[in-house]
This record gives sequence, C-alpha cells and structure tokens, in this order.
Amino acid sequence: MDHFQYRDGTLFAEEVSVSNIASQFGTPCFIYSRATLIRHLHAYAGSLSDISHLICYGMKANSNLAVLQILAKEGAGFDIVSVGELERVLKAGGDPAKVVFSGVGKQDFELRRALEVGIHCFNVESLAELYHLNAIAMETGKVAPVSLRINPNVDPKTHPYISTGLKANKFGIAQEDAIAAYRHSSELPGLSPVGIDCHIGSQLTDVSPLIESLDKLLNLIDQLADIGIQLKHIDLGGGLGVTYDQETPPHPSEYLALVKKRLAGRDLTLILEPGRSIAANAGIFVTKTILTKKNQDQHFAIVDGAMNDFIRPSLYGAWQKIIPVDTTEKTGQIEASFDIVGPVCESGDFLGKERRLRLQEGDLLAVRSAGAYGFVMGSNYNTRGRAPEILVDKDQVHLIRERETIDSLWALEHTVDD
Ligand code: LLP
Repeated sequence: MDHFQYRDGTLFAEEVSVSNIASQFGTPCFIYSRATLIRHLHAYAGSLSDISHLICYGMKANSNLAVLQILAKEGAGFDIVSVGELERVLKAGGDPAKVVFSGVGKQDFELRRALEVGIHCFNVESLAELYHLNAIAMETGKVAPVSLRINPNVDPKTHPYISTGLKANKFGIAQEDAIAAYRHSSELPGLSPVGIDCHIGSQLTDVSPLIESLDKLLNLIDQLADIGIQLKHIDLGGGLGVTYDQETPPHPSEYLALVKKRLAGRDLTLILEPGRSIAANAGIFVTKTILTKKNQDQHFAIVDGAMNDFIRPSLYGAWQKIIPVDTTEKTGQIEASFDIVGPVCESGDFLGKERRLRLQEGDLLAVRSAGAYGFVMGSNYNTRGRAPEILVDKDQVHLIRERETIDSLWALEHTVDD
C-alpha cells in the first residue's frame, strides 16, 4: 500500500494533486510520500518489536537529507557505503552509533572518519580491509567493531548486476575462509569481532535464498562459538523486492517470521539493511510529454524525463509502471502502444516500451516505484540539470532538492587561457 492514488481520475500524492505539484515545480520531478516511507519502515520495525534489532536503511536507495531525517526520527539506523553517505547521516541528524559501513573498497580516510564518529560496526569484506582497519584503529587508539561480510554462494535469482552473494561476485569473504578470517580479526588488537553479515542481492522476490544464507551464517556462528568467538549480532543485509509489475515479493512480516523462528533461543541482535523496499514505492517520477511522433508503425511519446534522470530501464532493462497523471479523456489524444522515450541522444534512452496509453502533447505521466535508485543514480548527461525532489506530507508540499540550474552544471569547471 502506498499513498499515490487516483481521486476523481487524477493522481494524488497523499492529499495533494500531482498536476498541481508539476505546475508549481515544473517537470521532470521526483515526488515522495512521507507517510509511505514511514509505513514501510514500520513494516519491518513492527514485525521485530519482540526481538533485539536495528534497521539500518540502505541509504544508497535514496539519500536525500529530508528522507534520512524522516527515517532517523522514526528510529532508523543507516547502512552506508561511503564517507559521503556517513556525512549525510550526520547532517540529517542520524545517530552514528546506528550506522553500519558496507562496501568492498573502503578507503583509509573513510575508515578513519567512521572510527572517529563511532559507528556501530564495519562490515568488512576482505582480509586486506581487516589489516587496514586494524592499523588505523591502533594509530588512533580505538578498537573497531567488525562484522565479516560472508559471501554464502547462494543464487538470489535476480538481475545479474544486482546479485552479490555468488562466488563470482566481488563481494564479501568466502564462507570457506570465514573461520580463519575471524581468528585473524580476534587476534588483531585494533579489532573486535562483534557480528556477521551478508547481503546476497537486491529485488529478491523469493525468501528461500535469504533463508538459505541465514542458515549458513547461523552455522558459522556456532562454529565460531566453539572456538571462543561469541558474536552479538547477525546482519542479513537488504534485498527484499518490491512490486514493479506482477512480482509478488514476500511482505517483510512473512520474511521476518521465518527469520525469527531461526533466531529463537539465541542471544543475537538482528540487523537489516533494507533500501528498495522502504523507498521504491514511496516515490514517483513525473514527466511531461513534449510531443508525440510516429515513425512508420511505431508511436513514440517524447517526454522531458530521460535516462539521465531515471536510468533503471536503460541500465537493467527494468520495467516500471507508467501511468497518466490525469485519466480524463481529452480531445486530441491518441490511443496507441507508445515507446516512452527521453530527449537524450541514445536509443537506450527510454522509460518504458510498448505502453498502451492515451496521450497528447503536454500530458503528464508518472513512473511508479521511482523512490529507490531513481534520483541517486541520476547524472548530468547531455548537460541536463537534475530534476528536483519534492516531499509530500499530507497536504504539505516541501521542495527537498531544487532543480539544478544551468550555471550550476559548470560551476566546478574551468576554461583554459591561450
Ligand atoms: N546492503 C548492501 C550492502 C547493499 O549493497 C545494498 C544494495 C543494500 C543493503 C540495499 O538493498 P535493497 O534492500 O535496496 O535491495 N541500483 C540497483 C540496486 C543496487 C543495489 C545495491 N546494493 C537497482 O536499481 O536495481
């Protein structure tokens, strides 16, 4: 359930008409619903109220400061993958003690800063990273809490670009090498092994790979206990899918019921890192039809939003629902199967293909499920300023990121004198 619904044939974001927002702020634009963000966070938190847990929102999905602020106020922690994300958490008023730091290539300055602010845990992905972290911790007189990210070699059955828990992927430490790596980390004076972690992929629509990984991690926890390494938490990463089309991903409560059954009787805090399932359906991307054209038999709607604004369809061949903002019939509209394409000079620049719609110039379209991996993956390709982000809270509309101006696009560039 989300808060983007039609009222009398016109799309609303919570209590506000999407057309009105588009008139006020222009198109293309991203619109987020505060109530939906909170609802999705509580879908996790509500299922875990009876066990020790920490939900670290996978903020790479949508890292706008206002989004982080809302989630932080609701008690969320954050899964970060760069020092930039850490600074965003701090800027938004998030608690560093609720931050876990993932990523396969953390640099020394990033490790140093995270140690300085006192994050909850480093999700370490290699022996080399263990040594770097140990050296920095010793140099600064601190002890770094670590969790090793295990690559359980489980097929998440998702798009290959977002599968991360297979042997062939760059992520984590192989399950077979885990015990030796833990022994190492327990011997290094700058490190304290406190947890175990995995993240096997994103947009998972079946729980079985997640549960298979959980079982592998629990098995490792038992083996570690036998050699005197007692872990305090287990972090299962993110990955739960959302409905873009016909997918039927499990509800967080279904997934967590299975997890809780396996954790029963164990003294472990559960950490999760959901990103997409919190943000995707809390956002839409609104774009206006510049013109329609027909090349032989193919109808195109050329819209003002493009691959630089929203790259998932181009990059992953992702299917995102595209709906009219106003469904009332107007004279002049053509009903056809349209390719919805942007103005960028690439044939890969499309938001959707073969969509049956009734359209004419000026009509607004909304790309659904655009709150995750939308704005954050944008670029300035073709010297296009990035779209603004707008947050709706009941009948209140907040501009949470302005549209980039033309001047801002070259603000960091310098011409050279002859
Ligand atoms: N934790 C780690 C370590 C991750 O790498 C990710 C996502 C998450 C948590 C959050 O996963 P989620 O709950 O969102 O599935 N750009 C791609 C998705 C990339 C996901 C990368 N890692 C897309 O648009 O589909």
